Amino acid sequence: MGPDRPLSIESFTLDAPRPGEVLVAMVASGVCRSDLHVVDGDWARPTEVILGHEGAGIVQAVGEGVANPRVGDLVVLVWTAPCGACRACGRGEPWLCATPRGGGHRMAADAVRARRRDGSPLGVYSGVGTHASHQVVDAAAAITVDPRTPHDVAALLGCAATTGIGAVRNTAGVGAGESVVIIGLGGVGLSALMAAVDAQAGSVIAIDPEAGKRALALELGATAALSPDQAPDEVRRLTDGGADHVLECIGLPVTSELALGCVRPGGTVTLVGMIGQAERIRIDGYRFVEDGIRLLGSNYGSLVPERDIPRVALDVVEGRLPLGRLVTAHIPLTAIDDALAAMRRRDGARRVVMFGDAA
Ligand code: APR
Ligand code: ZN
Repeated sequence: MGPDRPLSIESFTLDAPRPGEVLVAMVASGVCRSDLHVVDGDWARPTEVILGHEGAGIVQAVGEGVANPRVGDLVVLVWTAPCGACRACGRGEPWLCATPRGGGHRMAADAVRARRRDGSPLGVYSGVGTHASHQVVDAAAAITVDPRTPHDVAALLGCAATTGIGAVRNTAGVGAGESVVIIGLGGVGLSALMAAVDAQAGSVIAIDPEAGKRALALELGATAALSPDQAPDEVRRLTDGGADHVLECIGLPVTSELALGCVRPGGTVTLVGMIGQAERIRIDGYRFVEDGIRLLGSNYGSLVPERDIPRVALDVVEGRLPLGRLVTAHIPLTAIDDALAAMRRRDGARRVVMFGDAA
């Protein structure tokens, strides 16, 4: 696969789940920008993999010793199932786990469960490879959620939604009455926006070049929506000198630098979007120190999977987070190249592959 080469859709076989693993029948899988980063070669990753890392499914079978999840559970698949044993896990920072169970896309000989018909091994992206009808994953990567959670939204809880919501709740810690700027209104940014509104932020300013995204942000509770060329001046005017919190949700140096220009002295900039490995951000060091700015990186929304994912699912079921608004279209697996192309064109928020009858 690559920018000029379509993905291939193939049949493959799966080994039975081994101890500590579960077999999942996928119900939905979101097409995320990180898929595109891999396809377009922005990140050095092995590419003989089953793509997709934002999915949900129903547990079909469990391996020996698995108490959770259970057969029949609706599960959200997480792409950094923590090992529970390394120093990061010991500190209570499982999102920084040094040896996550899906590490290396499960391409090591003893980790491979998916194989081509000719027996050759296939890796699975981040240990979950969700753009497939079935997958064998580590039990710790399958988090049971309320069965009332809509399947398309459950998929988004595996990545975009959790990344944006966790950045607001866990990493930045946005509080009631604070001013918040969200730069980039894709799946991640709109999720962050919903969490900021839910946290009763005093003002939420949404920034995106696309007018449609800005209109959606206003519907979702943003107090203002700006195009990037209006920032930072208009942000500084609306917030009387800069926002308490600025979240960058795209992954570009230019918007990261813009974020630093939108924050008030003593405020917090949280970088959420994944930046290309070759990119560098320029910082006005004098102003940064003089103004006492705090700069945070947010990996996977500083997620504690078994604590945060069921809670966000309940927030959806009980109507506090309208994450269904992120879904632009339900598509069959065969339309995945079109979905990636639409993302390159910045068209729509989220396309979700539906498996089985739902497609
Ligand atoms: N200023 C503001 N917004 C911009 C700009 C810009 N200069 N350029 C693009 N955008 C907007 C796009 O219009 C789009 O609405 O950023 C948004 C990006 O959204 P998506 O492409 O849907 O990306 P998303 O899936 O939300 O992921 C964002 O988080 O998890 C990471 O790898 C992921 O780096 C990616 C980021
Ligand atoms: Zn760990």
